Amino acid sequence: MQTKRSYIDGVHPEVELLKEGVEWLRAGELVAFPTETVYGLGANALDTSACAKIFEVKGRPQDNPLIIHVCNRAMANILVKGWTLAAELCVQHFWPGPLTLVLPKTANVSDVVTAGLPNVAIRMPSHPVALRLIEESGFPIAAPSANLSGKPSPTSGSHVWRDLKGKIPLILDAGACLVGLESTVLDVSGEVPTILRPGGISKEQLEAVLGEIWVDKPLKNQVPKAPGMKYRHYAPQGEMILMVGSSEHVVQRMGQEIHKGHARLKKVGVLCTLESAPFLHNRLPDLLFVLGSKDRPEEVASNLFEGLRLCDERGMDLILAEGIEEGGLGTAIMNRLQKAAGRKIQYI
Ligand code: TXA
Ligand code: MG
Repeated sequence: MQTKRSYIDGVHPEVELLKEGVEWLRAGELVAFPTETVYGLGANALDTSACAKIFEVKGRPQDNPLIIHVCNRAMANILVKGWTLAAELCVQHFWPGPLTLVLPKTANVSDVVTAGLPNVAIRMPSHPVALRLIEESGFPIAAPSANLSGKPSPTSGSHVWRDLKGKIPLILDAGACLVGLESTVLDVSGEVPTILRPGGISKEQLEAVLGEIWVDKPLKNQVPKAPGMKYRHYAPQGEMILMVGSSEHVVQRMGQEIHKGHARLKKVGVLCTLESAPFLHNRLPDLLFVLGSKDRPEEVASNLFEGLRLCDERGMDLILAEGIEEGGLGTAIMNRLQKAAGRKIQYI
C-alpha cells in the first residue's frame, strides 16, 4: 500500500487535509494523526473490522484493548454507561487533555475494541488536529499509539513514517508532540479512582481534584488491570541499564560502564540529563543524547522516546540511561524507562 504523508498545520489544520483523513476513515481504513501525547493510529471506533485492522497493522496482541477518542461529551455518552462522580470531575478538570477514563461500556462498543472487557477507555485529546479530525468525521476514533508493537510510541510524524510506511494510506504529520508520553489511564468505574498507567496527568494533579487515588501495582503473576502494562513494551536491541542516583555518582558509574563496554568492543549510548552531560562528553560514549534538565521533567518526557529510538537506529549494544526523580511527570518517565530497561536498574 502506498502511504501519503500530509503535512498539516498543528494549530489551524487545513480542512481539505482533514477531509482526506475522514474519507479514509469512512472507508474503513486507518489514518495516523497527532495528539498532544503521541501519534495515534486511528480507525472508526464504531466499525469493528476497521478496528480489527489496527491489531493487524501494529502486530498488537489481541488482548490489549484500544482507547477511544472523542471530541465532546455527547460522543462519549454513546460509549459509556454510568458516569461516576469522579469521572464527571475528571471531564471538568482534565478534558481535553492527556487523561484516559475507564468506565463501563455500552453495547455500541465492540468487544474487539475492549478486548472483551466490560469497560471502555476513552479520552478527549487537546491537539487541534485530533479534535478537528474527530469532529469532521462525526464518529469516535479508536487509536492506540501509532508505532509497531514493541517500539517506543511515536512522538513525531517521522517516527510514524518509519514504522508504518506502506501499511496505511495516510499520515497526518504536524511535527513533534507536546507531551511526548502517553496519557494517564485512570479507572473511575469503582469506589476509588485507580491509575492503571502513569502518564501526562500526574497522580498529584488527580489527587488535588479527586482526593484519594490508588495505583494499580499488580503483584508478580497477577495481570495488570490495563492489559497493555503487562508487556515490556519497548525492548531496545541492545542491553539497557537504568541508573538512579546523584548526578555525580551516575556520571562516575557511567564512565566505568563505558570503559568496560568499549573493552568488550561494544557501542555504548548514553541518555542523560542536561546537568550530567558536560561531565560525560570526555568519557567518549558512542552516542550522547541529552534528555533535558532534571528540573524540567516535561522536557525529559518530550525527548525520551526520540532518544530511545535513536539508540537502536545507531546500533548501540549497550544503553546507559540516567533516571530522574519520581513525582509528577517524573513518575511516568521512570515507568517508561524501567519498562525499557527490563529489570536492569542500578541504584547508585
Ligand atoms: O496518549 C495516549 O493514550 C495515546 C494517544 C494516541 O491517545 N494512546 C495510547 O494507546 O497510548 P495504547 O493503545 O498504546 O495504550 C492504551 C493503554 C494500554 O495499556 C491498554 O491496555 C489500556 O490503555 N486500556 C485500553 N482500554 C482499556 C480498558 N478497557 N481497560 C483497561 N485498560 C485499558
Ligand atoms: Mg502503545
